[in-house]
Amino acid sequence: MSNVNEGQPREQWGSKLGFILAAAGSAVGLGNLWKFPYIAGKNGGGAFVLIYFIILFLVGFTLMLAEITLGRATQLNAIGAYRKIRKSWAWVGSLGVVAAFLILSFYSVIGGWVINYTMKSFTGALHVTDGQALGMMFEKLITGTTEPILFHGLFMLATLLIVLGGVGGGIEKSNKIFMPGLFVIIIILAIRSMTLPGASEGIKYLLVPDFSKVTIGVVLDALGQVFFSLSLGMGCMITYGSYLGKDSNIPQSSIIIPLIDTGVAILAGLAVLPAVFAFGFDPSSGPGLIFVTFPAVFAKMPLGSIFEVMFFLLVLFAALSSSISMLEVIVAYVVDEWKINRKIATLLTSLIIFLLGIPATLSFGPWSHITILPGRGFFDTFDFIASNVLLPLGGFLLCIFVGWIWGTEKAIKEVRNNGKISFQWAGIWSFLVKYVGPVAILIVMVRSFL
Ligand code: TRP
Repeated sequence: MSNVNEGQPREQWGSKLGFILAAAGSAVGLGNLWKFPYIAGKNGGGAFVLIYFIILFLVGFTLMLAEITLGRATQLNAIGAYRKIRKSWAWVGSLGVVAAFLILSFYSVIGGWVINYTMKSFTGALHVTDGQALGMMFEKLITGTTEPILFHGLFMLATLLIVLGGVGGGIEKSNKIFMPGLFVIIIILAIRSMTLPGASEGIKYLLVPDFSKVTIGVVLDALGQVFFSLSLGMGCMITYGSYLGKDSNIPQSSIIIPLIDTGVAILAGLAVLPAVFAFGFDPSSGPGLIFVTFPAVFAKMPLGSIFEVMFFLLVLFAALSSSISMLEVIVAYVVDEWKINRKIATLLTSLIIFLLGIPATLSFGPWSHITILPGRGFFDTFDFIASNVLLPLGGFLLCIFVGWIWGTEKAIKEVRNNGKISFQWAGIWSFLVKYVGPVAILIVMVRSFL
């Protein structure tokens, strides 16, 4: 359709591994390292993890394959992909682009905190064992005005610079460094944490289910977490899939990427929770878990400052490899559809996201009295609308689109590429995308809003 860069071939991933690392880099992020341990902690540990796995099997793999296939088939951005197949569905892609603006604006605020804490870990400013003092330090950072805006700006700047480098030179290259580094660090940290005296309590907490805490709210949290963690429902995987060549093995990638993502989330839980128990902290202390509890844990650990620097660098890498994927959703759309050159598109959209993030960060401090949705300031409103409404809705509509409008037969044909790629679970996938996915998402969303 409107592939404006005609004559100029669309950029492609340099290699199979390059795509998998970039997509896994998108998936692995603050959702795994910051959110998963505390959300699991809050929701009954093992019971949450079990529900997460069920949703992952029913919906996660299914939507991953659907998004990547839609992208590769159309070779277009999130909006263009829908439009090329059915004009009247382009608005569904727009929901994703809106979600990308919203999520990136508050994601970058947290990314800014991470840069700040990475610097603090280098200078030894976090070498404090008193949990309360660490709590105050965190509070002081996030409720400030200039400092958090500045660090949010720095995080956006880093994101922008990578995306400016393009798909192969910027995104793929940086992920080839980020991802292996991340695996090594998280494994070292998990081993360190699990071998602390008293760590077994934390391992049990993460893995032994407590069903008394399971409510419909917990199921919605798990659904939202699967979407957020796998980067689904926004057209992110449509966009990354659009840079794939026809010889790529989508079924294989759609299994490997969620497995890496879930593996890292579990490893993050195993790195955070046993240490939290070993040092007697509260596992359900919420968003502050990695910023408040963890530094206290490191301060009490032999060689703690080294592990601490490694940890915050890990979180920073993971956050950047995710934020670039969100910016790419927007940039790909602007470049494909508005005929604007990549550089200007990147600069302009980053500036808008930076500005959107300012009210989000101020809502922790000077603007904490302003509510947008009942009981929610800017930050929580952006998060709620994007993560709990737009992503599940985007996922639901994607199922309907691929299952019924485009049709699973055409999708399977695209995946198989004239029989060159084997796709043995095509029948199961087709059933999941047509029936199980949309019904499950609808039930959870409707029930939680009633
Ligand atoms: N998955 C990332 C994380 O876990 C965040 C993210 C990147 C994302 N791209 C996305 C979330 C697209 C939703 C949609 O931190």
